[in-house]
This record gives sequence, C-alpha cells and structure tokens, in this order.
Amino acid sequence: MSFKPQLNPNITGLKESATLAINLQAKAARAAGKDVIHFGFGQSPFPVHESIQKALRDNSHQKDYLPTRGLPELCKAVVNWHKSLFDYDLHLDGVLVGPGSKEMIFQALYCLEGPVLVPAPSWVSYGPQVNIRGKIIEPIITKRGNFYKMTPEELEAACLKFPGEQKNLILNNPANPTGALYSSEEIEALAKVCKKQNVIVISDEIYSLVNFASKPYVGFHNHYPEGTIITTGLSKSHGAGGYRLGILSAPKNFSEFTKALCSMISETFSAVSAPIQYAALAAYTVNDDLLNHIKQCSEIHNLAGEYLHKRFTSMGLNCPKPEGAFYLFPDFENFKDKFKAKGIIECAELSQELFDKLLIAVLPGSDFYLDESYLGVRVATVDYDGEAALQAFQSGKSLDESFINTYCSRLKEGCDRLETYLKSL
Ligand SMILES: Cc1ncc(COP(=O)(O)O)c(C=O)c1O
Repeated sequence: MSFKPQLNPNITGLKESATLAINLQAKAARAAGKDVIHFGFGQSPFPVHESIQKALRDNSHQKDYLPTRGLPELCKAVVNWHKSLFDYDLHLDGVLVGPGSKEMIFQALYCLEGPVLVPAPSWVSYGPQVNIRGKIIEPIITKRGNFYKMTPEELEAACLKFPGEQKNLILNNPANPTGALYSSEEIEALAKVCKKQNVIVISDEIYSLVNFASKPYVGFHNHYPEGTIITTGLSKSHGAGGYRLGILSAPKNFSEFTKALCSMISETFSAVSAPIQYAALAAYTVNDDLLNHIKQCSEIHNLAGEYLHKRFTSMGLNCPKPEGAFYLFPDFENFKDKFKAKGIIECAELSQELFDKLLIAVLPGSDFYLDESYLGVRVATVDYDGEAALQAFQSGKSLDESFINTYCSRLKEGCDRLETYLKSL
C-alpha cells in the first residue's frame, strides 16, 4: 500500500529559500567546472576573529544544556555591547538567544497577531515565514528614487488598510537587498507613525555594524524603545553565519510576549549549543581589537559596493549606492525593450539569462516582493577570498581599484562580462 502523508496547507506552497537555492545552483555549476560569478549569496567572506575562535575551542567541553533564555553572561554582554555601540538600554530579561536571527524572527512572528508589513524590496525569508504562520506578507512598495527606503507616508497608508488591528513591521537596516541605510531622522519619522498606528517593529539589525556612514548607527530602539523588538546575531558583522547564533531583544513592557517566546523556545529548540554561546560571549565582549576587525571588514565591504555601483551605473543600469550590508539592487529597466525583443519580460527570466549566458548568479527582485515585470535583481558583493583581502588591507594595501583587481577580481570579471553582454544587446 502506498501511503502519502497529508501536509499542513501552510507549507505545501513553500519552496526552498531562494538564497540557499541559488547558492546550491552556483556551487553545483562550479563543482562541474563552470566559472560562475556568485553574486547570489550573502555570506561574509571574512574569517571569524581569533578571540571568538579561541573561546569556541576553549569551551568544547561545555556539554550541559544552557537556560532557555541563553547563557546569562552572554545576555548581559549583549546588553553592554548595545549600550556601548548604539546607546541602547536593552532590558536584560527581554534578551533571548537562538540558533540564528532567522529563527528568532520566525518565533517572534509566530507569537504575534496582526498583519506583517515590510517595505519592498525586503529580505526573501520574511514572506515564507509569515506564510508558515498562515498569513500573507503585506509589501509596501518603495521607490528607487528614494533609495528604496519606505517613507512615513507610505507606512501610514499601509497601516490605514488595517484599522483597529495591531500591525507588525519588519525593517532591516541597513537593508538586504538594497544596501540602503535609514538615517536617525528617517527612523524617527517612521517611529512617529508606528506610535500613532499601533505598530510593533521587528528591527532586523543583522547588518548594523556593516554600515559605511560617518555618523553612528541609529535604530528604532533609539526612537521607539517601547514598541521595538530587535533581532541581530553573529552572522554578518562577525562573519560567523555557520555558528548559528542569533539574539532577540524585547522591551520591558513586552513581558507577556517574552514569556510566550520562552515557552516556544523551551518546547522547540530548548537552547542554543553551549560551546557556541561561550564563543558568542567573546563576540559580544567589547574590545578594541575585535571592533577594529569588524570595521576593517566593513571598509572592504564598502569598497566592493562602491566599485560595483560605479561599474553598474557606468554600463547604464540604475542602482542606488549602497550605504551598508553587502548588496546592491541594480535594475535593467533601461534595457527593457531590448530584453523584450529577446522574449525576456520578467526578472526571473532575466536572472536565468544572466546565469545561462554569463554564468552570473543573481536573485530576481520578485523574490523580494517586487512585481515580476520590474527588472531589478539583487547582487551580493562577497565573491572573493575575504581572508586574503583582509590580510592585504592589514598589511597596508590601500583600498582602491587596484585592490579590487588583485583581491576581488571576480567582482571585476562579473562586471566585465555584464558590460560586454549589455553592449551586444
Ligand atoms: C536581512 C537578513 N535578516 C536575517 C538574516 C538571518 O541571519 P542569521 O539567521 O544567520 O542570523 C539574514 C541572512 O542572510 C538576512 O540577510
């Protein structure tokens, strides 16, 4: 007898996460000997700072389950870190540790009622997470002319569609996929709308230290602490995505939420791996050497973003200049007619064309809640050997175009391929 399991309808429509899928596709092509330019996957290329690696080695014997909330010393260190770097006054009992911020966002969404709003474009995984919860995401379409940043008016208009309901906004700052960074004034203006419209903010701050601004980073916690849940972790600024450690911080007045979340954690993953939490303690202990390492990595990210921005705009693509994270969001709208003549109408077809013809992996804008007919794609800027690049920078090489040509040559190669292709259209 053949027996087919019946599935939860909330997950039958799910596909593998677009970012992980493109990574597998690019890796498989590379394994088959193809010279793929991997603009598809946003993983930090830099090594994990030695102080964190040492803490992990020194704690491999830690085998006991840790408290559901997380290692108490780690939670305290997280509070101090955020006070010292961002002037946040986090509530210690609201700090929870999880296996990646992705999981913490999911768990938070699971606990919260009401619609979930995101500016579009926004990160690929928010939508599927909301779908698993049996809801659909409500994208707020932003404008390229405003660097794809959501305005207070756009947020307010979206809120008005749900009168009387609690609303949830997920905002990633700096942003994946555009590299946009909201200023303090912009956050303050959005916070005003959130207060007025009863909006809970999930402030995804996974890239907060990968930012290229001269001014200090300002987040929702600075302007709207009572309504802001922060998620962050080791994956981007600390280059330790595979460690799988994320943090969630909820305000004091959210004690019911925190209690519910703790129960969820205790009934699902129990607690994060103990050795990893001890390593994270080193990662969240403020020290100059570590902060300098994070800053140097960020400067190389900045150089890569600036270089790609210059090349993309000079070949006729529209593209806001990134101010943080490690992505750009160029669009091929200026080439729409030429692509149409080739039968390429949707951005997914465009991405496939770039992969098939140029072996360049990118993600289509439709994975980020934009219309399929809009020819925007996400480019990740990290296809280079971060260890070699960091060593070169530390040994005094200046961050200029010759640095790119030597240490990030695949970025140049990708641009050269794209430029030649666009000229041939
Ligand atoms: C915008 C954004 N948020 C959250 C995450 C999740 O990071 P992690 O689960 O590794 O902490 C990522 C990872 O790519 C991301 O780009």
